[in-house]
Amino acid sequence: MYNNIDFNNKTILITGGAGFIGSNLAFYFQENFPNSKVIVFDCFRNNEIFPNGNLKSFGHYKNLIGFKGDVICGNINNQVDLALLGDYKFDYIFHQAAISDTRVYDQEIIMKTNVNSFHDLLAISKKDSAVMVYASSAATYGNLPSPQTVGIESPENPYGFSKYIMDQIATRYLKENPDLSIVGLRFFNVYGPREYYKANTSSMVIQLGHQILDGKIPRLFKGSDRIFRDFIYIDDVVQACIKACDSKQNGSYNVATGIPRSFQEIADILQNELDTDLGTEYFSNPYDGYQMNTKADILSTRKNLSFMPRFSLEKGIKAYIPEILRLHGTDIS
Ligand SMILES: NC(=O)c1ccc[n+]([C@@H]2O[C@H](COP(=O)([O-])OP(=O)(O)OC[C@H]3O[C@@H](n4cnc5c(N)ncnc54)[C@H](O)[C@@H]3O)[C@@H](O)[C@H]2O)c1
Repeated sequence: MYNNIDFNNKTILITGGAGFIGSNLAFYFQENFPNSKVIVFDCFRNNEIFPNGNLKSFGHYKNLIGFKGDVICGNINNQVDLALLGDYKFDYIFHQAAISDTRVYDQEIIMKTNVNSFHDLLAISKKDSAVMVYASSAATYGNLPSPQTVGIESPENPYGFSKYIMDQIATRYLKENPDLSIVGLRFFNVYGPREYYKANTSSMVIQLGHQILDGKIPRLFKGSDRIFRDFIYIDDVVQACIKACDSKQNGSYNVATGIPRSFQEIADILQNELDTDLGTEYFSNPYDGYQMNTKADILSTRKNLSFMPRFSLEKGIKAYIPEILRLHGTDIS
């Protein structure tokens, strides 16, 4: 247990609950609070793709096998679908549904999906007096130098901008409704079980893990020993979501370890765990303005959420290895 909140007999909405983070939350409640009532709302995937070749949504039924709560297939952009939630009175809302692909550049669909729907979800939280914990992102910082600190943002893509606007909407909503509890969590690079169905947008941990299991030399951008990210294991993300329900102060919080690690280190730790010695193959980074270093300032998260990351990169990858092995070569469609 991460705090003293008893979620038993509480009604919990998880939007995006068929996706990576949402489904992990759903199972967290099921396993730790068997008498909680969890409702997953997700549009699930269909065959539609964005011009970048990725699916328009990544929700997958396989992330929910074993889940015993209610599952509603619905689109957060659709009022008729959202009306299906009117049958419940929620105590907690974890709003994870979004276009999570940072390389989608269709501004209209990103803003509609990530921003417009937030007003509707906030209205539900207000109606029910439900605690709202929503997913923001490290992408709100764009290419700003480290440490990334709440209050200094500069999004560099439509996705990051949409989350930045969500944070502003939350701030304004709180001014108008000071009794509400609304916390935005800026996740950094999350990795762990149930991300597999995000395919190309899943973390480099599983992508490199599967390259290595294919017997291929792990491929990285040139200079990957100097490209750093603040990687965070899924269990620590769940920890932050739970602790956000008991935040000492509303607002936006970074969810990360505060310790940047390189992509090279991921490949090396994986090879160590998988007992291979394939070396590394390097290729030129095709992206302009690529972020070279993220390192979150997590002081306020520690202070107001009592957040304490428990997984180093070594520990997280070690915990993840059985799942990487299990999924290797399995159908991703
Ligand atoms: N995973 C990360 O590293 C990371 C980092 C920063 C922020 N985030 C944010 O955290 C949240 C969860 O991310 P994730 O990694 O689990 O992504 P994900 O893509 O696995 O989950 C998002 C879910 O939302 C659903 N969805 C998308 N559009 C929808 C719509 N119109 N109506 C209903 N459902 C819809 C998808 O089907 C999917 O199941 C997202 O808001 C994402 O932007 C994630």
